[in-house]
Amino acid sequence: PLLLGVVVLLGYLLGAVPFGIVMARLFGLGDLRKIGSGNIGATNVLRTGNKLAAFLTLVLDAGKGGIAVLIARATVGEDAAQLAGFAAFLGHLFPVYLGFKGGKGVATFLGTLLALAWPVGLAACGTWLAVAVALRYSSLSALVAAALAPVWALLLGHGSMTVLGALLAVLIYIRHAANIRRLIAGTEPKIGKKERTT
Ligand code: G3P
Repeated sequence: PLLLGVVVLLGYLLGAVPFGIVMARLFGLGDLRKIGSGNIGATNVLRTGNKLAAFLTLVLDAGKGGIAVLIARATVGEDAAQLAGFAAFLGHLFPVYLGFKGGKGVATFLGTLLALAWPVGLAACGTWLAVAVALRYSSLSALVAAALAPVWALLLGHGSMTVLGALLAVLIYIRHAANIRRLIAGTEPKIGKKERTT
């Protein structure tokens, strides 16, 4: 139980690292919270026009979820891996380093799923990508990928991930409330568009 607590706490602390803000600063792009949607994720880094910084944000925000899962799996076991992945996701949403004002969790959700069961993670990434290529909205791609994650878990023989997938999906929907309003109003910017949305 002590080790379980340690890997879950570690997952949270890893997840709380806001790589979007770190990358924006490192690349001299300014304060990400004053750009575009004000969100700390890769989609908003892309609004600065710096594709490399956006790509690194995506990989690192996904990677921190994946690493949290792998550490917990290696030291405790599969149940701990799910808990640590969830903790990393919560860390991204409510980071202690930013006064608990974090992001929307999409990259961390994808990285966590990839590490928990790569076929489910790949299916979620594929879903995101398919919607993004077809419709060019990052938020809508995330909403569809999140909703389908528990379905993919069931269909691909990872039923034990269904509850976690559903929980992550609910939190992703709550965090995308403003995006959902803009999508309905037709004012959500497409991927890479630089306009401010808040
Ligand atoms: O990953 C977050 C994305 O779904 C929406 O980001 O900046 O457009 O609100 P943003």
